[in-house]
Order: sequence, then structure tokens, then C-alpha cells
Amino acid sequence: MNSLIDKYNIPGPRYTSYPTVPYWDESTFSPEKWKESVVRSFHESNSGEGISIYIHLPFCEALCTFCACHKRITKQHSVEIPYLESVLKEWKLYLELFEEKPKLKELHLGGGTPTFFSPQNLKTLLEGIFATVEIAEDHEFSFEGHPNNTTKEHLQTLYDLGFRRVSFGVQDYDPKVQKAINRIQSFEKVREVTEWSREIGYRSISHDLVFGLPHQHWDAMEYTIHKTLELKPDRLAFYSYAHVPWVKGVGQRGFDENDLPSGEEKRRLYEDGKKLLQELGYIEVGMDHFSFEHDDLYQSLIQKKLHRNFMGYTSSKTQLMVGLGMSSISDSWYAFAQNVKTVEEYQKMVEEGLIPVVKGHILNEEDLLMRRHILNLMCQLETTFDSQDAIPELENAFEMLKEMESDELVEIQGSTIKITEKGRAFTRNVAMVFDLRMMRNKPETRIFSMTV
Ligand SMILES: C[S@@+](CC[C@H](N)C(=O)[O-])C[C@H]1O[C@@H](n2cnc3c(N)ncnc32)[C@H](O)[C@@H]1O
Ligand code: SF4
Repeated sequence: MNSLIDKYNIPGPRYTSYPTVPYWDESTFSPEKWKESVVRSFHESNSGEGISIYIHLPFCEALCTFCACHKRITKQHSVEIPYLESVLKEWKLYLELFEEKPKLKELHLGGGTPTFFSPQNLKTLLEGIFATVEIAEDHEFSFEGHPNNTTKEHLQTLYDLGFRRVSFGVQDYDPKVQKAINRIQSFEKVREVTEWSREIGYRSISHDLVFGLPHQHWDAMEYTIHKTLELKPDRLAFYSYAHVPWVKGVGQRGFDENDLPSGEEKRRLYEDGKKLLQELGYIEVGMDHFSFEHDDLYQSLIQKKLHRNFMGYTSSKTQLMVGLGMSSISDSWYAFAQNVKTVEEYQKMVEEGLIPVVKGHILNEEDLLMRRHILNLMCQLETTFDSQDAIPELENAFEMLKEMESDELVEIQGSTIKITEKGRAFTRNVAMVFDLRMMRNKPETRIFSMTV
């Protein structure tokens, strides 16, 4: 296995979209075209599956120095109401495009820290939205909670509004790691919020763990995983630490790069961590995610309903996902659009009556086709091309897969590609073969044969 990891371990996209954000062709995009694609998608899907809304709630009271999310650090809670008013105004701008009442299937509150906001303010926001939609019977509402500031009242208020899933940022329990990432958070606190969630009736409780953090060694990781199991979250995200200090606004600092585990150590954290999670009864679902058998995420995998979007894996698919709030990304299936990335710009544009998108991509026929195949590979671990998928580069792609076939990572039967059990860890490498936008832009991109 290690030699395969050496061979295939290369930086690659996570395919929460295709084309991936760096390959969006902005010359194809305009706010007008974005709105047209939203209208089309709404028309096609609202009466069937319904739509999803993602709301980005960016504020956090303190900076965790490892964090790569779009956030704004402040202790001033006076920012809450004006921000939520902007979100409701932005939603109104979308409502003007719709010819009928939206049917809300999925809703996710992400951040930043949604639980920075008071339960009452979150309730006002959500009631503002719910007054304008029909809530689907089988709706899925979820939110991200910070264990240090999630109260019982948050959990009860959101439960009463229909939320049944919650994910808590845990990261790591080792005091040295917590100090380095400026995130002091006790196991007792995580236990408390997890138990409250369970008592209140949340169906799916998830914990986020991160491997590759400063000072993280296997002993600490093993301890974190064993402590996590004491609380038995239904799902786990096991993220690889993304070190991107060059990205504007991210603010990763406060530790020396020499404190980060080396490539070899990081690989062990992943490999041994995954092995331990599996021994303890978790099943790997797609990339980065583990769940117990009873959880919807695993159930959707076996029922072939698993979907992937900017929020990661979801257990059902909607064609239209409207992202509200600063930096949110929306997906109309035919186009992607991202909102402006500062709170001030966001609020200003919304005040001016403008949908605050700043960049995006309109998918052409080829993008739509490759998107479908890449999604199939990321979610179902297999895809079948048909004779209409006539793109000259596909021949090349199948040629590249031959080496993966001889390494037993994929099975190719005619035009069907199946990722094997052994190949699961290399799903991204398989998807990269079909990333035509990346291949054309960077033909030297290596899919394999590159050591760490
Ligand atoms: C918005 S936060 C979760 C909610 C809340 N703000 C908290 O921290 O508990 C989303 C998650 O993204 C993950 N994350 C943030 N920065 C990351 C990075 N640089 N690499 C990998 N995962 C990261 C963390 O696991 C974090 O819990
Ligand atoms: S990890 Fe969570 S709390 Fe920490 S800065 Fe990032 S979004 Fe905020």
C-alpha cells in the first residue's frame, strides 16, 4: 500500500464541483446568466425534489490558527442582526426570480460559527425564510456547532425548527495541538454538547477531526480517536489539514511550518487513523467521511443516492442549491456562482438590490457530461460512458487508467470504470483523469508516478 501511496500521492482537487473553482472560466459568466440558470433550474426541479439553501454565518469569537474557512473574527455580537437582515434581503432577491413557492428540501447553516449567533436571532432568520417556502416532508436540516459556544437552547431551538443533524468541530484533544491551533476545547465540553444533542433527539451527530495539524503525532491521534469513540458520533469527518497560508483572509499562523508532521508522518496519521476507525466499526463513505451503518450517509451510499456538493457529501441531491451570505457558493447545476468575500461588500451589494455574486462559471455540454461522470466516481465509485460521450480526450483518459488498472485500483469493463476496494483511497486520482479542464490548462499535470 505504501508504495502505491508514494506513487499516487499528489495534490489534487476534492471535486466538490466540476469544473473546480481554479478552472472556472469567468469569461462565460455574468450575474444575468447566473440568474437565467437559476430560473431554469428552479423551473425544472422545484415541484419534484425541491431546492437546497446553504447559509454562511461567518463570525467566530477567536481565530483557530489552522482554519481555512471564510470567517470574520469578532467579539461584537452587535454584528448579528445587520448580517441576518442582509441574508434575508439576499433571499428576497432570489424569491423575485421564482414563479412559485420554493419547496425546501435541504438547509445547512455553515461558517464560521453558526452558534456565534444567539438562538433567538437564528430563529428569527429561519422563520423569515420558512414564511416564504413550503417545507418538504422529508427535509434535511443541519448545522455546524462549535462545542465551546453551543448551548442547550441552541440545540433545542434548532430542533424545534426541524433540524435533525449537527456537526461539531473537534479537531484534536491533545493539549499541545490545541495550544498550537489556538483552540482550547475540553473533552468534557464536547461530551456535554453531544449528549444534549442526543437527549433532544438529533438523529445524526457528527464530529470533525483533522489529521496533519502542528505537533500531531500518532499517539495523540490515537488518543483523540479513542476519546471520540467514547461519544459514538454517528458520523465523522476525518479531514486532511489543508495548509494554505497564502490564501487571502485565511490567517493561518501562530505555529512554525516545522511543527507540521512530515509527509511520511501525515500519511501514517491518515492510514493508521483510517484503520483504527474501521476497526472500531466506522465505514468509509466517499472521501474524508466515515459513518456507522445506521447513519443516512452510509445508507445513501448503498442505495446509490449519495451526492457531493460544496458542503461535501450529502445523502440526497437537489439540482438547485442557493448559497446565501458572504463567500457562499451556489450551484444551479448549469452554473456555479460565488458571493463576494467580505462582510462589508456583501452587505453593500445586497443593500443596492444586487445578487452579490462576484465570480462563477456557466457549464457547457461537455462540462455537464464530465461533471456527471466525476460525480458518479466520487459518490458511487463507478461510471459508464456511452457512445454519445464522444470527446477525443476520453481515449487518452482510458489510456491513463490502464496503469491504475494494473495496480488494481480500477476495473475497466468495456466503457464501465469501477473503483476497487483497494482503489478507494485514490478516488481523486481516478477523477482527475476525466478533469478535461485541468488537463487542457495544465497538460503536464501528473496523475501518478510522482513521489511525495
Ligand atoms: C466551519 S468549521 C466548524 C464549525 C465551528 N466553526 C467549529 O470550528 O467548531 C468547519 C470545519 O472545517 C475543518 N477545517 C477548517 N480548516 C481546515 C483546514 N485548514 N484543513 C482541514 N480542515 C479544516 C474543521 O474540521 C472545522 O471543524
Ligand atoms: S475552525 Fe471554526 S471556530 Fe475556528 S476559526 Fe475556523 S470557523 Fe472559526
